[in-house]
Amino acid sequence: MSAKFFSNARIYTPHDSGSPLRATEQGALKHYEYGAMMVEDGFITAIGDEGAIVKAIGHGAIVEEIDCRRKCVIPGFVDPHTHMCFASLREHEFTMRLQGTPYLEILEKGGGILSSVKAVAQASVEHLSAMTIRHASRALSFGTTTVEIKSGYGLDTVNELKMLEAIDRAALFLPLDVVATFLGAHAIPPAYSNAPDDFITLVIEDMLPAVVRQGVAEHCDIFCEKGVFSINQGRRLLRAAQKSGLKVKLHADEVHDLGGAGLAVELGALSADHLLAVSAGNIEAMATSGVVATLLPGTAYSLKKPYAPARKMIDHGVPVALATDCNPGSSFTESMAFVIGLAVMNMELTPAEALTAATLNAAYAIDMAAKVGSLDVGKQADFLLLDGETPAILAYHAGVSSVDRVYKKGELVAGGAGVSRGE
Ligand code: NIG
Ligand code: FE
Repeated sequence: MSAKFFSNARIYTPHDSGSPLRATEQGALKHYEYGAMMVEDGFITAIGDEGAIVKAIGHGAIVEEIDCRRKCVIPGFVDPHTHMCFASLREHEFTMRLQGTPYLEILEKGGGILSSVKAVAQASVEHLSAMTIRHASRALSFGTTTVEIKSGYGLDTVNELKMLEAIDRAALFLPLDVVATFLGAHAIPPAYSNAPDDFITLVIEDMLPAVVRQGVAEHCDIFCEKGVFSINQGRRLLRAAQKSGLKVKLHADEVHDLGGAGLAVELGALSADHLLAVSAGNIEAMATSGVVATLLPGTAYSLKKPYAPARKMIDHGVPVALATDCNPGSSFTESMAFVIGLAVMNMELTPAEALTAATLNAAYAIDMAAKVGSLDVGKQADFLLLDGETPAILAYHAGVSSVDRVYKKGELVAGGAGVSRGE
């Protein structure tokens, strides 16, 4: 058995009491100024004030001690919404958007998601898996210890399965927890441009059974948006997914308010994601449901759109999570700290609320909270050492990584991308 005692730490963590944190609870972190954590076989067996823990277990029980050197210790980030499996970048589209072409117009003309679909069709599973490892490794170096990755650049059975296989293979090489989501309904392929209902039928009757048979995805997602899929199409697909045992979530109200958040509530989805254009009525509906609002400020930043009304959501009792949405189009970043910075500076979240959003609530959004998302006894010892005294450093030290060390199940897996300020 391996037992490690992490001492001399300023610990900040949300506390998991069985459901996502909402309203004032979202910003109520546990804090141990002189904290310590006992980790046995990768799991937390004690956490709290160092003096109290040492008293309880006795000095003799401490075999290996790791001095956290007064650094701030927080849970590893959980990134609950990414499209990190893709074949190539779309830098030219970024330039087009800067020159005024809207994101959905690029998609209408066969670019955007559809250009990533063409690239995936030509790519091998090895290439896709190598690209996924590349982006997930970068995320890890910035402090992400659990990541959700979607398919969705396949849009036919062969290529959707190829993506999910690439994600599965990548996970074998990555020291992080990877959760795969099937997003076969991410865009309407050109052959179905006049028959989106028929495409949804194909997704339900062909792709979904194959995905379930191979056991390569835990969740099912759909992009509900004007010019993409309607709420009725979303309902059809996600109900079928639930019947076949997948948990559901959706890209909702990203550019237009179609009522995606309402559909998430109706279906008991894990999360409704994006919500830049969500209605006041559906904020109320979400507040009385268990649906997590997964917000992606990197997308608002990159598309130059107004940010989702995060403050209003938290004040109304909606549990808010944050994610990168890492993809080659609308949000190209692997950094959860960047997203936290945007949430604090542009969405009026406090650093404490943003930390809960990027850890525990994010874990609930992908149904991983039993294992990760907070530093509580019984969970995996996934945590970060920050070059700072409080989690505020993540937003305060802008544009660089304040992550000094990354631990996964008690093992050091990355030394952090930033330059340490020293001992
Ligand atoms: O979450 N909105 C749809 N899907 C992604 C973008 C994917 C892409 O542009 O490649 C998103 O923003
Ligand atoms: Fe997305």
